[in-house]
Amino acid sequence: MPITNSKEKFVHELADMYDAEHQFLQAMGKMRDMASDQKLQTMLDEHMQQTEEQISKLEEVFAEVGEEPKRQQCMGAKGLIEEATSMMQEAGSPEIRDAVIAGAATKAEHYEMVGYADLIDGAEMLKKRKSVRLLTENREQESSTARRLERLAPRLGKAAA
Ligand SMILES: [Fe+2]
Repeated sequence: MPITNSKEKFVHELADMYDAEHQFLQAMGKMRDMASDQKLQTMLDEHMQQTEEQISKLEEVFAEVGEEPKRQQCMGAKGLIEEATSMMQEAGSPEIRDAVIAGAATKAEHYEMVGYADLIDGAEMLKKRKSVRLLTENREQESSTARRLERLAPRLGKAAA
């Protein structure tokens, strides 16, 4: 479908993010099952919970722009997940696998942060104030999760060495 105005662009990107969050939610469940480090498991559990709330917030954003929630396959998320999956399978020890999982999860969070920043700009342009607030809340959760993962990474890296 051609994108001819900023609302259509926004809705397209929103549907892309809506799909990305679903894909990441499923992938995090698999990462959580493959993780050995307790702190990493807890962080993944907590972020899965947050992701479910983020999906509901995206549904509220769809509502504010008068659209039904729909998923548009996010190729970026698909690629990140495929890469993470093959690296997890190749990891030669639980410690290496944990370091791989933390790195892959951090990449996903940064990818989402950039996507949300773009969506916030779009919602501002459309003067959808509730959407700006909801999208900002999601972006802040992604960014605090990324920071927490980055703080955990050195210990996991050392264990894997
Ligand atoms: Fe996330």
